[in-house]
Amino acid sequence: MVYTRSDREINIIAQSCQIVADTLEMLSEYVKPGVRMLDLDTKAEDFILSCGARPAFKGYMGYPSTLCISVDDAVVHGIPSEEYLQDGQIVGIDCGAELDGYYGDHARTFAVGNVDDEKRKLMDVTLESLMKGIEQAIPGNFVGDIGYAVQSHAEANGYSVVRELVGHGIGTQLHEEPQIPNYGTPKNGYQFHAGMCIAIEPMINIGKKEVYTAQDGWTILTKDGKVSAHYEHTVAIKADGPHILSLGTSHG
Ligand code: MF3
Ligand code: CO
Repeated sequence: MVYTRSDREINIIAQSCQIVADTLEMLSEYVKPGVRMLDLDTKAEDFILSCGARPAFKGYMGYPSTLCISVDDAVVHGIPSEEYLQDGQIVGIDCGAELDGYYGDHARTFAVGNVDDEKRKLMDVTLESLMKGIEQAIPGNFVGDIGYAVQSHAEANGYSVVRELVGHGIGTQLHEEPQIPNYGTPKNGYQFHAGMCIAIEPMINIGKKEVYTAQDGWTILTKDGKVSAHYEHTVAIKADGPHILSLGTSHG
């Protein structure tokens, strides 16, 4: 079932997205060498609750935390641990909120201290890939148009696209139909109409595309041990084009 959201509903989804965008912006000043990941999670949870919302990931299919924090070769779904961030790492931080029954979902990858040019470029290209995907989120276009745009940009830069995890519809559930893969063929798959809300979330690897799930049952890691980046925006597809609902005060 693919929902068509009214302007009233999109407004609430936008408020939920604003909370997650503000959460990541708030966290950005703490993402430094020596910070404990668990402390970032506590800060995020307190902030979301203070906004009158609820952390959407906590308890979802048994997930234990407010944030997913995925370091270097962790692609997504890293569980915040007692470990400390270290200089030179890149960390994907993914956050979801639920406000009045409506969800927002947003992720950014952050540099911890001084990050080498290779990692920096992976972050830039992954964010560019997301933005190119978002440009395709217009009524009449197809799910495959987004996947094609994301994949083309990532592969043109020599990177690979994770296949096992995909973007998704979002609204009164965190994950709704349709699935939004980060690879695809133009004019293929579900056709967009105005009022759809989707989360687009490319996971781009510097090495090979293959991933596996860690012993903890959640963390997704690259098989070759090379680094991966992840950005995600919640987008409303309106008659006049894509509206990015999770844009905070800063870009990313
Ligand atoms: N943005 C991620 C996703 O859409 C977050 C879900 S993680 C979970 O898959 F912990 F909530 F499962
Ligand atoms: Co998502």
